[in-house]
Amino acid sequence: MHIGILTGGGDCPGLNAAIRGVTRRSIDSYGSTVVGIHNGWAGLINGDTEPLSLYSVSGILGRGGTILGTSRTNPVKHADEVEMIKENVKKFGLDAVVAIGGEDTLGAAAKLNEMGIPMVGLPKTIDNDIVGTEYTFGFDTAVTIATDAIDRLHTTAESHHRVMVIEVMGRHTGWIALKAGIAGGADCILIPEDPVPISYICDLVSLRKERGKTFSLVVVAEGFTPKDADQFVVQDEKRDEFGHVRLGGIGHLIGAQIEKQSGTETRVTILGHIQRGGSPTAYDRVLATRYGVAAADLVHKGEFGRMVALQSSKITSIPLSDMVGKIRTVDLDLYEVAKVFFG
Ligand code: F6P
Repeated sequence: MHIGILTGGGDCPGLNAAIRGVTRRSIDSYGSTVVGIHNGWAGLINGDTEPLSLYSVSGILGRGGTILGTSRTNPVKHADEVEMIKENVKKFGLDAVVAIGGEDTLGAAAKLNEMGIPMVGLPKTIDNDIVGTEYTFGFDTAVTIATDAIDRLHTTAESHHRVMVIEVMGRHTGWIALKAGIAGGADCILIPEDPVPISYICDLVSLRKERGKTFSLVVVAEGFTPKDADQFVVQDEKRDEFGHVRLGGIGHLIGAQIEKQSGTETRVTILGHIQRGGSPTAYDRVLATRYGVAAADLVHKGEFGRMVALQSSKITSIPLSDMVGKIRTVDLDLYEVAKVFFG
């Protein structure tokens, strides 16, 4: 077979491990040929590709980013671009395309599969919000980076008797905030799934003061909106091709309110893209490798229109259509565990 691979949407650690997994398995175990498609769907629209050999995927397992490049191009937004994709699939003789991406990229893959282009999906995102799988790769690395940041902010908060607000990524869900918050001993974790009012946060800071603690750590997901606010805090109203605005800045709004209402000096740190850059953890390297190998197996069994997934620690697959338009929100039992340590 002749197989195309692309990486779409926001990058994350583990993408190269997944590309390597698909390529090695396809060439070594099935005698297939593989082509890398540059910059997500944009490369399939414009015919921008490179052949992938065992040599070209050598040495990339632990490297951050994606050797193929990525973009937030939505391939099904314009009918003429769908036609260009169909023509290029024919021109390059592709028997299948492996799309590595989050909800947007995989949603587009589901639609293209329905239009007759054989697709297999592979779930990645630091946000861990894809339905049908327990983990997306990139998430573990982001949690590790955020936990390290919380640990570092902990010592300086303690020295200066300050409140530290740490804003982490998480557009629709609070997975990174919740896991890193628990691991870092946060005194309050704010997630999009639970829009508490600002007064709740200030009460927790005051409670800690009453208990003799002169500092607090508040972890907030970028997509959190307090009950008393009517909309997200955004950095840029401009929407990408999938309709998303750029989030970021809720930490400053919360920090200012905490300082005003509690009288405690407050500082805000926005971790931003540091959470997405650099080398993947061992967990993410292994998960991305397992997904890559499993995706190549699905392609060679002719099981198109499916996404590889992790369920009960085993690799399986689900129909791509099962994840379209849905978001996997945080485990509320885990949130209850986190709350035991609030205040
Ligand atoms: O979807 C993953 C994510 O990291 C979100 O948490 C964040 O809102 C978004 O990507 C930022 O993407 P970018 O700045 O690359 O457009």
